Amino acid sequence: MKKTIGIVAATLVVELIVAVIFIWSGLYNVSTLSPDPGPLKWIFSTTSDNSVKHHANGITVPQNVKELSDVKTSRNSQADSSMIAEGFDHYNDMCVTCHAGPGLNKSEAGIGLYPQAPDLARSAKELPPQDLFWVIKNGVKSTGMPGFAKTHSDSKIWAMVAFLEKMKNMTPQDYAAMEKANTSMGNMNMNMKMSHHEH
Ligand code: HEC
Repeated sequence: MKKTIGIVAATLVVELIVAVIFIWSGLYNVSTLSPDPGPLKWIFSTTSDNSVKHHANGITVPQNVKELSDVKTSRNSQADSSMIAEGFDHYNDMCVTCHAGPGLNKSEAGIGLYPQAPDLARSAKELPPQDLFWVIKNGVKSTGMPGFAKTHSDSKIWAMVAFLEKMKNMTPQDYAAMEKANTSMGNMNMNMKMSHHEH
């Protein structure tokens, strides 16, 4: 018995030394052009998926966002259009670079990311709203996904989630129409500011 424990302990020590030598050697390729081997990929993605589920559990989803996310109630949802427009504004400004959008391409920086930023129309179909909220607020370490908690209030982040719930059913034409409406609003605001300035 004692002998078995001794052998197991010695094996563990040797494995640890080999692992440390490997880490120090620089042999592992951190290049984005060299995909992680399958088992490592599994470790990262499973850790990340389950971490999000665990930490998002218990977040209370605002009623209007809940209605919007459910196919049965989404048509008649009370989520007001100003909330969705606010979410769109943030999305169009900050997320398209990496995630693209209906009818939109990723930027050059987005194309170079590893891991790649997923299509959020699909994520919104697969993940419940509290998971989307948690990821946007906290970000995901060691991926390109930033956390927006330091710069955005919860209500702004819920507006982004509301927009994603809307985006999951949007065509490129719908998106372009929102962009157009947004630009004309922006111009209107600018004109108002400018005319304000003149008086
Ligand atoms: C600099 C690039 C970058 C920007 C900007 C960015 N993201 Fe991400 N995002 C990522 C990457 C990379 C991932 C994948 C992380 C991973 O593999 O765990 C991700 C993951 C996500 C996820 C999880 C999706 C899923 O299916 O698991 C959500 C939700 C998300 N981002 C929302 C947003 C929103 C909303 C914005 C804008 C406010 C944004 N992201 C801006 C790179 C970015």
